Amino acid sequence: MSDTGPLSDSGDDGPKGELTMRLLAMPADANAAGDIFGGWVVSQMDLAAAICAADRSRSRVATVAINTLVFRKPVKIGDTLSVYTSIQRVGRTSITVLIEAWAQRYQTQNQVKVTEGVFVMVALDAAGEPVAVPAEI
Ligand SMILES: CC(C)(COP(=O)(O)OP(=O)(O)OC[C@H]1O[C@@H](n2cnc3c(N)ncnc32)[C@H](O)[C@@H]1OP(=O)(O)O)[C@@H](O)C(=O)NCCC(=O)NCCS
Repeated sequence: MSDTGPLSDSGDDGPKGELTMRLLAMPADANAAGDIFGGWVVSQMDLAAAICAADRSRSRVATVAINTLVFRKPVKIGDTLSVYTSIQRVGRTSITVLIEAWAQRYQTQNQVKVTEGVFVMVALDAAGEPVAVPAEI
């Protein structure tokens, strides 16, 4: 797969889901070769999953599982990371969120999918116990 035009990556139709976060990959987040640590990317995906699930559940949430996680391409210093979320399933207390992270390469308009994963979030009450996700209004 090669970096192609804006919002494209050969074999993909562009990002799936709602743009939930955009941020800049900085030198402090990279190794000596200029590649961004995978843990930093996963952390941003986890935050986006939390925003998405909290919006849906209207409660605090916690990550109970990361079911799949694939790193397809490296993220480099200076890339702008865009994180997209879409709800795959709503259970009684859980919300399963598909997350895609796309990197806009430094000083280009090229955006490429770098990471995708499925995060399971649980709605919590004030005591930190699972609570039913309300029906969608
Ligand atoms: C989230 C937490 C409160 C859930 O407690 P629990 O006793 O497992 O609660 P339950 O068994 O009732 O499960 C709650 C929901 O999570 C789902 N779930 C639990 N474990 C799961 C797993 N491994 N994978 C997918 N879903 C899971 C259950 O199916 C249930 O969903 P449903 O109500 O839609 O059917 C508890 O596991 C916890 O506090 N975990 C730590 C969370 C955390 O700190 N996350 C940040 C990472 S450091």
